[in-house]
Amino acid sequence: MTDNVTDGKGGLKLAVFASGSGSGLQSIIDAVERGDLHVEISLLVCNRPDAFALDRAKAHGISSVLIEHRGRSRDEFELEIRSELDKRHIDLIALAGFMRILTPDFVGGWRGKMVNIHPALLPSFPGAHAHRDAIAHGVKVSGLTIHFVDDSVDHGPIIFQKSVEVFDGDTEETLGKRVLEQEHIWYPKVLQWIIEGRVHLDGRKVKVEGV
Ligand code: GRF
Repeated sequence: MTDNVTDGKGGLKLAVFASGSGSGLQSIIDAVERGDLHVEISLLVCNRPDAFALDRAKAHGISSVLIEHRGRSRDEFELEIRSELDKRHIDLIALAGFMRILTPDFVGGWRGKMVNIHPALLPSFPGAHAHRDAIAHGVKVSGLTIHFVDDSVDHGPIIFQKSVEVFDGDTEETLGKRVLEQEHIWYPKVLQWIIEGRVHLDGRKVKVEGV
């Protein structure tokens, strides 16, 4: 059993990566402010100047860095991200609607310490159009997956999944809204399990104590 996660003693520094509206970031901020998530949100990393996530961070006094990917090599882009993370001694990274693929070189340094949330029950419907694909396939159940990030997109060891019913007539919007509501409940909870040192990674398998 390899414990890649934290000592559970709190005081850990979290960086959130987002590219869009940042409702996932907001759910994490709200959980910290409610006292349900014992971590310091030390940084928001954002790659799009128009992302509302930047406004959310500002409204809550959270440091953010805008690192645009346009016009830069992946190496330059990731080098700047690394520098910002190092400056702040980040312990854990949560991707929350971050729409850039990170290289294996970057990911390799964060094994067991970088997580992502995907709005489908992986390995079904990976990629950027999960709700569209799930509806097109005619599934009766979709949901969310929270997983460690590895070298392949939407592929890393699964920590937690929650199912959400798909109704006849659902659209991407109606299904997306229903799944997003659950994302906002469960992402902060799972991050707290990691902070408490209850999440153990063993190869592809993840064991969560007490769940
Ligand atoms: C969420 O559905 C998340 O699962 C997916 O992208 C969406 C991001 O939404 N990766 P937001 O930017 O956090 O509001």
